[in-house]
Amino acid sequence: MNSKVTEIKALFDEKLALVTTSEQVEELRVEFMGKKGSVAALMSELKNVPNEEKKAFGQEVNVLKQEIETKIAEKRAAILEAEQQKLIDSAEEYDESLPYDIKTGSYHPITLVQRDLERIFTSMGFTIENYSEIVDDYHCFEALNIPKHHPARDMQDTYYLSTENQLLKTHTSAAQNAIMKKYGAPLRAIFPGRCFRNESTDACHENTFFQMEGIMIDKDISISNLIYFMKTMLSEVFQKDVTVRLRPGFFPFVEPGFELDIKCLNCGGEGCPSCKNSGWLELCPCGMIHPNVLAHGGIDSEEYTGFAFGLGLTRLAMMKYGVKDIRTFNSGSLKSLSQFKNE
Ligand code: PHE
Repeated sequence: MNSKVTEIKALFDEKLALVTTSEQVEELRVEFMGKKGSVAALMSELKNVPNEEKKAFGQEVNVLKQEIETKIAEKRAAILEAEQQKLIDSAEEYDESLPYDIKTGSYHPITLVQRDLERIFTSMGFTIENYSEIVDDYHCFEALNIPKHHPARDMQDTYYLSTENQLLKTHTSAAQNAIMKKYGAPLRAIFPGRCFRNESTDACHENTFFQMEGIMIDKDISISNLIYFMKTMLSEVFQKDVTVRLRPGFFPFVEPGFELDIKCLNCGGEGCPSCKNSGWLELCPCGMIHPNVLAHGGIDSEEYTGFAFGLGLTRLAMMKYGVKDIRTFNSGSLKSLSQFKNE
């Protein structure tokens, strides 16, 4: 082998052994393989080599070139791997048992109250029914014993659609007729839903709010059944024994009709600002379903009786969580609404 080739090969190996960084690898590559590097210089010697040795010399230089390139590539890869390993070794240790803070969403307070009620009523054999928000005049009023021009309509002014006879439902009672027709008697159902009224808004009034209606129809259903179900449900919701009382209330679709009050949970009936010093809170209109309403629903009122109640879900959520302004619920303010977690 040509002595110059041997010399350069030995020099390269010697220097390569000392290289420890990517930068040094690059410097070494330029020194040997660059345009003005040792290998290029070796090639320019070719002209001084005697003719019969030229071929062998050329081959030796080519082999050297390949060898240097391979060794440089290997060294580069080895250094890169070592650098990565160093990074990994120096990284802070990952401890999966450390607590972490990921923000989770929360349910709307009305959803929480609604789910609570659904759980309680299904455990008492009620089904949960869904009903549309757009209804017609018949379902919202006439089937409920509220004929056209009846003064009871004044309290439930709403948003009428341009499509004939259609409106946004003013109360969940609008579903009573369809549900009676769907199941017939006997029947136990609750139907939560969003209701609309043309209302000027203030801390206690909203044009959009939630109710939960319930009906129970069977043989010999009486006011005592109504009181029992209401009392059980409210004690579950508030997680304490509640005292209820009935006052007469007028709704054309029940006879007799009542306003159900609960003894103020704040003061226990002594009188405080939240019950306006009366000791009682008005919570849930209810009553025995009017025979005309049963007849509209295709149920024989001679054989069956039933009760209906229209619980204000929004109102209940206000009471349960101490929300003072009803407008908070539709505000979309996460600061207010994300405080309520299901216990
Ligand atoms: N639908 C009535 C309202 O929204 C409430 C109600 C329901 C009254 C059922 C009696 C029985 O005002």
